[in-house]
Amino acid sequence: MRLLNIPILLCGATLAQAGIIESIWRESPQTFLARNGGQQETIQNIKNGDRGSSPQSHLPPTLRDTLDALQVMQDTYFDLFTGTWPDAIDWTAAVIGTHVSATLSSIISSVDISSIASCSDLASWQNTIDRYFAHTSIFYFGENAFSLRNQAFDDMLWVVLGWLENIKFVELYSLKHWDFVQSGHGALASDGWHGLQFTPMAAHRARIFYDLASDGWDDSLCGGGMTWNPYLTPYKNAITNELFTAASIAMYLYYPGDNNSSPYMAQTEYEYSKPHNPLHLENAVKSYKWLRESQMNHPDSGLYQDGFHITGWHRYPNGTINPGTGQCDELDSMVYTYNQGVILSASRGLWLATGARSYLADGHNLIDDVIKATGWPNTDATWAGLGRGGVLEEFCDHNGYCSQNGQTFKGIFFHHMSEFCRPLWPHEEAFTSEAGTGFDKDVYEYHLARCSAYSQWISHNAAAASATKDGQGRFGMWWKFEEPGQDTLAVIEESTILPPGAVDYINPIPEDWSLRSSDTRGSDSNDRGRGRTVETQSGGLSILRAKWNWETHLHQISA
Ligand SMILES: *[C@@H]1O[C@H](CO)[C@@H](O)[C@H](O)[C@H]1NC(C)=O
Ligand SMILES: *[C@@H]1O[C@H](CO)[C@@H](O)[C@H](O)[C@H]1NC(C)=O
Repeated sequence: MRLLNIPILLCGATLAQAGIIESIWRESPQTFLARNGGQQETIQNIKNGDRGSSPQSHLPPTLRDTLDALQVMQDTYFDLFTGTWPDAIDWTAAVIGTHVSATLSSIISSVDISSIASCSDLASWQNTIDRYFAHTSIFYFGENAFSLRNQAFDDMLWVVLGWLENIKFVELYSLKHWDFVQSGHGALASDGWHGLQFTPMAAHRARIFYDLASDGWDDSLCGGGMTWNPYLTPYKNAITNELFTAASIAMYLYYPGDNNSSPYMAQTEYEYSKPHNPLHLENAVKSYKWLRESQMNHPDSGLYQDGFHITGWHRYPNGTINPGTGQCDELDSMVYTYNQGVILSASRGLWLATGARSYLADGHNLIDDVIKATGWPNTDATWAGLGRGGVLEEFCDHNGYCSQNGQTFKGIFFHHMSEFCRPLWPHEEAFTSEAGTGFDKDVYEYHLARCSAYSQWISHNAAAASATKDGQGRFGMWWKFEEPGQDTLAVIEESTILPPGAVDYINPIPEDWSLRSSDTRGSDSNDRGRGRTVETQSGGLSILRAKWNWETHLHQISA
C-alpha cells in the first residue's frame, strides 16, 4: 500500500517545496534566458506547466528538433525485441548507442529541473529520459559483443567509447537531476537513481574491449602506433589511433572501476581494476604524440589523411614476415570527416587530465581547418576539400554511393566536436585538481570563447542537414539546402576531385553506378544509393544536438 503512494507523495512534496523551487527559479531563468534570447515565452510556458499538452510542445525549437530526430531514430530503426538497430552493423550500432547516451546528457545538462514547476512536466521529462535510457540498457544485451571481440581494433574501441558515454550520462543524471528530485527525501535517497545499477555492466564491457584493443599497439613498425586490423596487412591509420587516444583518456577520466573478473577467471591481476589508472593516461599521451608526429596531417590543409601502409611488408606462405621498410611510408591521402573528429574529444580529455593547453590549441587548429575545408564563409558549390557551401560533406555524398560506414562519419565528427566544446560538468573540475595541475580558469574561458565562435557554422550545418528531412522526419546523407540546378551541378562535378594518392576504400563505387549527378535531376538525391538509414539519422541527430549545445552553453560568450 505504501509503495503505491510514493510517486504521489514525491510529486506532492516537490510542489510543497514550491518556495524553494521558486527561489531557485528566480535565479536560474535570467541565466537561462540570457543564454537563450527570445525564448522567454516558451520557457515561461514550461514554468507555468501549461496543462493539457506535453512540455515538449513548448520547447525551444532546437531542443524540440533534437528530440524529434531522436524519436524518429528510435521509433523507425530501433527494435525492442532484439535490443538493437537491426539494420546497423556492429560498429555503427556502437556509435548510434553513443549518440543516444550523449543526447540524454545534452538534454539533462540544458534543462534546469529546478525550473520545472509542475508535477506532470517533471514526470513527463523523466519518462522521456527513462524511455531512451531503457533502449541503451537493453542494447547492452542486443550488442553483438561476442563477434566484436574478434573484429578490428577500431570496432572494439567504438564499443569502449559507447559504454563510457553511457556511464557519463548516468553520473550526470544522478548528480544533477536525481539528487535534486530526492532532496529532502532521505529515506529514498540512499538507493540513488535506478540507472546506476547498469554502471557496473557498462564499466565491465568498456574494460574488456579496451584491454582487447590495447593489443593493437605495435612498436615493431613505424616506431609505434595502433594497427587497424589484426587480420590484414598492417595499416596504421588515423581512426584507430585517434580512437585509442580518445578511449584511453576517457577510461582514465570516466571509468569507475570493475570488480567482475569474468572472463579472466581468478587471475589476481584482474581481480579489481581501479579507476584513474595511470596506464590509461600513459597510453593516451603516448598515442597522441605518435599520431601528431606521424605526419598524417596534410601539410597545407592541416586535415588528417587516412593512414599509412608499410612499403614492401609481406608475409610468406611459410609464415615468415618480411617487414619491408618497417616505416609508415605509403600514404592513403583520402580525407574523411570522422578522422577530423575523434581526436577532438581526446584533446579535451588530455587537457583535463594534464592541464596542458597545447591539446586545446591543437583541437581548435583542427576545427579551423575543417571549417575552412567546407569553404566557409563562402557558400558557393565549389568543393573545398571536405565540403562545400560551408557544409561538411563526405566525398561520396554528392554522387550518392556512400557505404554504411561512410554514412556514419559526419555524425561522429559532430559528436566529438560537441564533446570538445562542452562546458565542464561540476564534477569534472575535480579532475584537474586531482591531477595536481590545478584549474586554469583563463585557459578554460579562452577555450569556450573560441568554441563559441563556431556557433554560426554549426547552425549553418544544422540547417543544411534539416533541409534533407523527408516527410517522416528522416535525415538524408548529403546535407544541402536544395537540389542543385544545372549550373550548380556543373560546378560540383568539375570541382569535386580526389586528392592525389587518395583511395576511397571505405566507399567503393558500385560497378553499375552512374557517376553523373545530373541523373538525379527532379528527384531527391538523398534517395540514391542506400538512401536514408539509421546511420544518416544519427548524423542528423548529432548536428542538431551540437546546435542545441551551442545555443545553451556557448551562444553569448565572446572572444
Ligand atoms: C570493488 O570492490 C572494492 C573492494 O571491495 C570496492 O571498494 C569498490 O567500490 C568496488 N568497485 C566497484 C566499481 O564496484
Ligand atoms: C620462408 O620463406 C621465405 C621466402 O621463400 C624464405 O626466405 C624464408 O627463409 C622461409 N622461412 C622459413 C623459416 O622457412
